Amino acid sequence: MENRAQWGTRLGFILAAVGSAVGLGNIWRFPATAYDSGGGAFFIPYLIALLTAGIPLLIMEFSLGHRFRGSAPLTFSRMNKKTEWLGWWAVFVSFVISTYYGAIIAWSIMYAYFSFGQKWGDSPGAFLYEYLGLTDSSGEFLVSAGQTGSFVPGVLIPLLFVWAIVLFVLFKGVRRGIEVANRIFIPTLVLVFLVIVIRAITLDGAAQGLNAFFTPDFSKIWSAEVWVAAYGQIFFSLSIAFAIMITYASYLKKDSDITGNAFIVGFGNSSFELLAGIGVFATLGYLANVSGVAVSEVVDGGVGLAFAVFPTIINELPGMNGFFGFLFFASLVLAGLSSLISIVETYVAGFSEKFNVSRNKAVLIGGGLATLVSLLFATQGGLFFLDAADYFINQFGVAFIGLVEVVMVVWVLRKLGKIQEHANSVSSIKLGLWWKVSLGFITPIILGYQMYKLFELNLLKQFDTENGNYEGYADAFILYGGWFVAAGALILGLLLTLKKWNPELLGESAYSSKEDKAV
Ligand code: ALA
Repeated sequence: MENRAQWGTRLGFILAAVGSAVGLGNIWRFPATAYDSGGGAFFIPYLIALLTAGIPLLIMEFSLGHRFRGSAPLTFSRMNKKTEWLGWWAVFVSFVISTYYGAIIAWSIMYAYFSFGQKWGDSPGAFLYEYLGLTDSSGEFLVSAGQTGSFVPGVLIPLLFVWAIVLFVLFKGVRRGIEVANRIFIPTLVLVFLVIVIRAITLDGAAQGLNAFFTPDFSKIWSAEVWVAAYGQIFFSLSIAFAIMITYASYLKKDSDITGNAFIVGFGNSSFELLAGIGVFATLGYLANVSGVAVSEVVDGGVGLAFAVFPTIINELPGMNGFFGFLFFASLVLAGLSSLISIVETYVAGFSEKFNVSRNKAVLIGGGLATLVSLLFATQGGLFFLDAADYFINQFGVAFIGLVEVVMVVWVLRKLGKIQEHANSVSSIKLGLWWKVSLGFITPIILGYQMYKLFELNLLKQFDTENGNYEGYADAFILYGGWFVAAGALILGLLLTLKKWNPELLGESAYSSKEDKAV
């Protein structure tokens, strides 16, 4: 039996998996998505998505990783040689995500520093563009989509620092690196976030913000977009179809409660997400209150929410502005780093197994390559590249892989029964009809519909001048900044399957007891 790295304790694994799940997606993406999709009406689709796709798929990925004990490509190869490409596809999607995810953490580090004395001044929106090197001090754009311009030192230096931390943790290994880092990051993050939320809900106007967040808008509950948004959020947020959870579960001990762990991670992540929603909306309510406008006027998604709206709120706080600003951006840094570590671990594990090189070499080569590619996002035009890559890789990477993974396992290879047996043989909560119906029918139908809608929106309408491209970008930019990136992950994945595995490695599958040999 090969000498595979292992988590030190069950708690260590849970903290690492929660650390991966809780990330930038929870703090800035969830509140804005929930609000866009009708506030309180979002919770019903969100909870259904969690219970019919999120947790069932998490259990499936945990079971596969635990059963076959490999990185995602090795796990899929051991399950069935013909599915190796699926593992690599997810690994390359993670590679792309890691390159821009690091840049957002780099901005957060700088903003934690800017918080002291509110260096962003009275117009944080204009400051953000100037900081990123997109505009000059008069607000004039210096680059357009597709141009790089020069490096922006204020992004480049913290970005290199982010990579130094992540690669240092990964060099240290699974138990002494990833596990130790998460044991420090996650409890600190929870504490910091609790302080922020308590401050937020005690601000004037907080109730107004929470009402906007929690008041159900039932007119939207039948809209397909709300359901698509809920499923998309769950995938990104739970780190499923990223190759991550398979890799992390491959370091579990033989006796590991797979379903119990999946429920803890799934509900832990959603609880944090809810907490973030409460904190963010309470402060938005406060901002709306001091500016005398409705909450809907101050909501903004993604980059705008964290790096323009939040600085505005921090300016308006009644006291300790710098301290609270620092805590907010520090929480983004902590949440982001623990997720980035897990994203990079997918290709460190994959490369080291495929090319038979030591872990340290894989960290150096994989991490080095990612660092080089990520420099693109430290240029003046970085934000445009980031926006296009993020949209395309998430929609045509993560969500698409989720669909293909489920259809392949359930319908093409018909492995669900065997995976269920494996999970049930070690778990506290036994899987039954709920799990099979969710993965066999509900998830493929909803994800299939989602992909159909997305292709219709982005591909068929590409030639429709009325609706135009995503964000109105030029065709050429959408082609190489979006489509090529998303397709590239799949093509590179297919290419890597041409290289043969070390036959010894492929034949080994430590947890194949006699009973489950045929999985
Ligand atoms: N699951 C991670 C996040 O939410 C990737 O950001």
